[in-house]
Amino acid sequence: MTVIVNAPDWAHPQTDLTGSTVLLIGGTGGVGEGVAHALLGAGATVVATGRTRERLDDLAGRLASPRLVTAVLDLLDPGLPEAVTALVREHGPLGSAVVSVADWGGQGRKRVIDHTDDEWDALIAQNLTTIFRAYRALIPALSAEGAIIQLNGLSADLPFPGAGGRALTAAATKSMTRTIAEELQGSGPRVYEVILGLIGTRSRQLAGFDDPTWIPPTDVGVHVAELVAGTSPLAGSVLHYLVERADGPRSA
Ligand SMILES: NC(=O)c1ccc[n+]([C@@H]2O[C@H](COP(=O)([O-])OP(=O)(O)OC[C@H]3O[C@@H](n4cnc5c(N)ncnc54)[C@H](OP(=O)(O)O)[C@@H]3O)[C@@H](O)[C@H]2O)c1
Repeated sequence: MTVIVNAPDWAHPQTDLTGSTVLLIGGTGGVGEGVAHALLGAGATVVATGRTRERLDDLAGRLASPRLVTAVLDLLDPGLPEAVTALVREHGPLGSAVVSVADWGGQGRKRVIDHTDDEWDALIAQNLTTIFRAYRALIPALSAEGAIIQLNGLSADLPFPGAGGRALTAAATKSMTRTIAEELQGSGPRVYEVILGLIGTRSRQLAGFDDPTWIPPTDVGVHVAELVAGTSPLAGSVLHYLVERADGPRSA
């Protein structure tokens, strides 16, 4: 297998998404905010979602862009398809979508075998069923020329002691994304799975944690923007890794 490496100019990204609308599920999250920032910087209109109006208003206040619109959306809401239809009616056709969703649950760090049934079921619903429902609702709603990008973590491939529910669902959603890409066989939006290393999110910085090796969340957005535009050298591969900033994104 040939591994393709992309080395974007992180400081001066070239992608022009003027006229495109990108739905960003999980825009209120640490990674989502950086992606929103980069997509707006590329000229896109961004429809960013979260589950609460309060966090969306905070995001809108920080990003302060006339091309950012926000919408409350819960992927576990049975009315999700209607909610997506309403977004299209309100904001026009959605070219592409980014799914940047995670929920650590309330169980804290514990071994897999110490979870209660309720904790386990909640982790599966929040981190696997959510992504399934996102694909089911979004793929028919997106432009066939667009892209849908699932952001995921290295626990898709590596053991994660103390966070087995997250690791299991990361592996499962990686599998689901790759399967959906093959099932579509080019008949729908391009489907991408982007596995990320540690990200220097705003909340980590606010908590006083920082590390120069962590990837700035806007770098994730620079790569996402290139995938949306189809200009990335990796645009023909489904599976991408962005685990070290210096190396840039690479396929498989
Ligand atoms: N942070 C990292 O260092 C890191 C590293 C590698 C990979 N990743 C990956 O990046 C992705 C995003 O992670 P993150 O760190 O940004 O997480 P985060 O800060 O916890 O944000 C999670 C986002 O998902 C949304 N969300 C959760 N459940 C939802 C649901 N049922 N319906 C709709 N939206 C829902 C949240 O919305 P609310 O505002 O409603 O909570 C929030 O916007 C995940 O796939 C994660 O594995 C992150």
